[in-house]
Amino acid sequence: MEKDSCQNLYRQAKKIIPGGTQLLSKRPEMFLPGGWPAYYKKAKGCRIWDLDDNEYLDCSLMGIGSCILGYADSDINKTVKAVIDHGNMSTLNASEEVELSELLLELHPWAQMVRFARTGGEAMAIAVRTARASTGRDIVLFCGYHGWHDWYISANLGNDKSLDGHLLPGLDPAGVPRALEGTSHPFKYNDSEKLLELVDRYKGKIAAVVLETVRNVFPDKDFYKIIRKTTKDIGAVFILDEITSGWRLNCGGAHLLFGWQPDIAVFAKAISNGFPMATIIGKEKIMNSLQSTFVSSTYWTERIGPAAALATIRKIKEKNVPAHLEKIGKRVQKGWRNLAKKNNLKIRVFGIYPLGHFSFEYEDSLILKTLFIQEMLRQQVLATTAFYVSYAHKNKDINLYLAACDQAFGTIAEAIKSGDPEKYLKYPVCHSGFKRLA
Ligand SMILES: Cc1ncc(COP(=O)(O)O)c(C=O)c1O
Repeated sequence: MEKDSCQNLYRQAKKIIPGGTQLLSKRPEMFLPGGWPAYYKKAKGCRIWDLDDNEYLDCSLMGIGSCILGYADSDINKTVKAVIDHGNMSTLNASEEVELSELLLELHPWAQMVRFARTGGEAMAIAVRTARASTGRDIVLFCGYHGWHDWYISANLGNDKSLDGHLLPGLDPAGVPRALEGTSHPFKYNDSEKLLELVDRYKGKIAAVVLETVRNVFPDKDFYKIIRKTTKDIGAVFILDEITSGWRLNCGGAHLLFGWQPDIAVFAKAISNGFPMATIIGKEKIMNSLQSTFVSSTYWTERIGPAAALATIRKIKEKNVPAHLEKIGKRVQKGWRNLAKKNNLKIRVFGIYPLGHFSFEYEDSLILKTLFIQEMLRQQVLATTAFYVSYAHKNKDINLYLAACDQAFGTIAEAIKSGDPEKYLKYPVCHSGFKRLA
């Protein structure tokens, strides 16, 4: 690797951009502080070129879950380029909004109405506002990660560890009005007992129960049944966040595969393969309460988002992308297990096949994770302890990836044996969640 343009630019960025990046999960400190190439010049398929033209195979998070088809997909780009030529914005509306609404409702027959936004967090805020408007109540029970908005981060006002264990630990509620304390309460996935305890405590005041359909584990047999029955009984809105789970296991929300019927479902990220788009779909009576509350924004009307989503959904269906993600994801998870065994490493593998994860089962696991990232990067592979598979990852890429993993696992085994794995690190240990940058 040559030159240091990325490191130099990131050092400059930290002086003028608080926190360095716009998304916590893109902070180089989350991977390899001082070593991760923060910026890209070009991205295509599952390859990325940094500012110094170093080429990497991306087997990490693929645009943090947004590029399910791969980077700069030619079909989606063609659609978007045509939109640009015809005008992305005007005083009138984009007809693609109606076309996309019809397609989403065709895929999700339980829903009758659709609204759009452009990012996952804001779409979730709209879903929660809708539930509060339609019930006239305030309290939200939730599980999982749902973005940066006040309704969600307020859960950390009373106990700043409430959100730990919901994907990102350490989320600080500074700046969230104290008055929101007690309006959002977390429960863990599959923990129906805790959910029922919260329902009992706040009955009559609950606007919504919110959860990610699936992430690291599959739902227990009764989890859905209990949530659906309870929300019906207490008149609360059942909201499914499909921002990360959607489009990967099937064409549509993962809830279709499980036979679940929510009141609202929210999509973003992979729905438009790297172009900003988010959708909120739901039952007519509940969605209609959006007419009684003000939810409106200029750039929610631009045209690239719905056009990119239409093209992406059609390609996911036509190419049966979920089957590809499953096949490659299975190979990756099996590869991790085999290579860990070969190199005498204790790891735990988890997650649905398209969103595979592993953890080092050792006390100093963060040091080992950092060492893994360092060793993979040395072999020109962007990697972490998760692999979000895309349609662009083919078997030949996985051959390269697993060969690099074998090498990295070998070094990690040697480092553990030495009794001081940290001395194998050329960089500081990576961050595990949200914290202030020095
Ligand atoms: C399940 C889930 N909900 C909400 C969000 C927030 O979406 P965005 O980052 O587009 O605001 C994310 C992002 O990681 C997510 O995974």
